[in-house]
Amino acid sequence: MKLILLGPPGAGKGTQCKRVVDRYNLAHLSSGDILRAERAAGSELGRKAQSYMDSGGLVPDDLIIDMMIAAIKKAPANGYVLDGFPRTVVQAEGLDKALTAAGEKIDAIVELKVPDSAILSRMTGRRSCPVCGQVYHVVNLKPKVDGQCDKGCGALVQRKDDTPDVVDHRLKTYHEQTAAVVGYYENKYPILPINADQEIDRVTADMFKGLDDLAR
Ligand code: AP5
Repeated sequence: MKLILLGPPGAGKGTQCKRVVDRYNLAHLSSGDILRAERAAGSELGRKAQSYMDSGGLVPDDLIIDMMIAAIKKAPANGYVLDGFPRTVVQAEGLDKALTAAGEKIDAIVELKVPDSAILSRMTGRRSCPVCGQVYHVVNLKPKVDGQCDKGCGALVQRKDDTPDVVDHRLKTYHEQTAAVVGYYENKYPILPINADQEIDRVTADMFKGLDDLAR
């Protein structure tokens, strides 16, 4: 199964992707996670991406397309979920070109729908594990021990781009450049719209039901 999860910053893409990959045994290919790993490793790509990520803007399309196509080529045969990519129509076209060349296609697009008004508290309350990537929230999804990853990895951290000003810019960027990607996929692949403005487990249940129906 090959899926794309779309939605604004803080929609719950990372949270829901982790559940989808566990259920369907897929690889989780998150452009944000890959970029953060490149930054942590001090690579040239990571250095180039840093200022865009810190300000809440988008990293240039050519860098992202090359990075994500390389990740897709390494994914196991069982399939993958793309999280945070494509984020512009140019990236979607780049992905299509690579998929066509490989004789492959996407099975479905999952669109997580959340109003902007719900986003800020999600982002400022988010805490993540820098080791395993597990995502928590100080109110909505608390770790068992305050500030510590449930998997024993150690202390949780707050992302630098989760400050109110940067979140505001990320939302603006989403509406200006990413929202159009859903339109690009209309009539191309099945689109599964999911109300992500509800409790986390409810979002998961709706998504699994939609994906199971599509797989039948
Ligand atoms: P990226 O890491 O992809 O950030 P994002 O898309 O802005 O999404 P987030 O990771 O912030 O949110 P999410 O939807 O995964 O939500 P989460 O599950 O964590 O990208 C970061 C930066 O990298 C970009 O700004 C850009 O600079 C660059 N970049 C990445 N990809 C790029 C690309 N393709 N092109 C160009 N540049 C790119 O949930 C958020 C919080 O809410 C958590 O605390 C969670 O517990 C909580 N939560 C989740 N669901 C719910 C719910 N239903 N109810 C209540 N709380 C919830």
